Amino acid sequence: MIKVDISNVWIDKSLPDLLALEKEVFHAHQVLTEGTAPGNDFLGWLNLPVEEETEEIARIRAAAKEIRENSDVFIVIGIGGSYLGPRAAIELMQGPNHNMGKGKGNPQIYYAGNTLSTRHWNELLRLLEGKDFSIAIISKSGTTTEPAIATRGLRWLLERKYGTEGAKKRTYAITDPANGALRQMANEEGWETFVIPPNVGGRYSVLTAVGLLPMAVAGIDPMEVMRGAVQAKKDYDLRSFENPVWLYAACRNMLYRDGKVIEILESFEPGFKMMGGWWQQLFGESEGKDGKGIFPVTAEFTPDLHSLGQMIQQGERNIFETMVRFDAPQQALVIGGDYKNLDGLNYLEGKTMDFVDEKAYLGTLAAHVDGGVPVITMDMGELTNEKLGEMFYFFELACGVSAYMLDVNPFNQPGVEFYKRNMFQLLGKPGYEK
Ligand code: PA5
Repeated sequence: MIKVDISNVWIDKSLPDLLALEKEVFHAHQVLTEGTAPGNDFLGWLNLPVEEETEEIARIRAAAKEIRENSDVFIVIGIGGSYLGPRAAIELMQGPNHNMGKGKGNPQIYYAGNTLSTRHWNELLRLLEGKDFSIAIISKSGTTTEPAIATRGLRWLLERKYGTEGAKKRTYAITDPANGALRQMANEEGWETFVIPPNVGGRYSVLTAVGLLPMAVAGIDPMEVMRGAVQAKKDYDLRSFENPVWLYAACRNMLYRDGKVIEILESFEPGFKMMGGWWQQLFGESEGKDGKGIFPVTAEFTPDLHSLGQMIQQGERNIFETMVRFDAPQQALVIGGDYKNLDGLNYLEGKTMDFVDEKAYLGTLAAHVDGGVPVITMDMGELTNEKLGEMFYFFELACGVSAYMLDVNPFNQPGVEFYKRNMFQLLGKPGYEK
């Protein structure tokens, strides 16, 4: 299990304050799993972890094998919950520079439809020159503007390069089983499709083909990820403060009620950045409504200690931190000695980089607590594919419980529609004239 340590949060609060929330956290967990609270038509994610490989996962494996064999580049088209999960998984497991040196057999993976930037588009076109590629279009609604525009452009590129039939074999759609423009297009064009179940919202969809197909293309075994999620589903069902989900959900609510309205999720791994992005969307879109919500921010240490560090240490005391740690990797880097010692680093000779990293972590933790910032720490253990599945399930469950404690519906996102309405009106989309 993930170890959640709250021993560094007791600055203005004390244990009885947390224990006083026991009934609330129990109730939130109960209504979530029983499906008796608002949003209960979007609880399909609770049962996505499966012990046995399903027919859908077998097809995901087969599609991934084909893509790996015939493509130098695989493009994942999607935005928000239809994009952040797979990217988070791949970058956490393989690092932010995972595309380096990749090609056919183990394709590079890029993303489209997550921006309206022309520069990004031009860059994508340049990197596709002379490359074989395939695309996965991910959109539950099938009508989101950013991925729809990217789809149109990439389909044309595919058709020009491979002809209609060839393009068809390189196009995969992940969408609602029956509804929406993408489903209709996929049926019409004869693309292979995978399903986002109607009762699974975008930001809770990473354990469907949304996450599993890109992960499989990257060489991450979907069933290993599932195994971790299956175990998490069992472990985190516990109804007591021994459950790390309870500790995390209750603790963040306790701090929020004490004016800590910003949570910074920090890791010491560059590969965690997109996981932070996934977490940010999960919590931000689930909790930020009805004038409530903890503002989720992510940071990477130690780089951000040289940018946000000052603010965290001495700025307004309205923040708390959640620091995520993983076990050190097997392959260690040992710092060597230098006979001139001009840089004065010989005191570290023979020490590993991880040793230094750990001291940076402990030093930061102590400094921030001294500065009046409550810090939750999470010891994730070894970084494996199983751990990845566990982490996704852990955060999703914690988010659902935490949001119900806040008394908001975690599974809708009415606010996202406002910018779209304005944009459509400005663009002159039929039906949005006024
Ligand atoms: O979490 C969500 O529901 C959203 O972030 C959606 O995933 C995002 O808006 C994309 O929607 P769609 O998959 O319908 O294109």
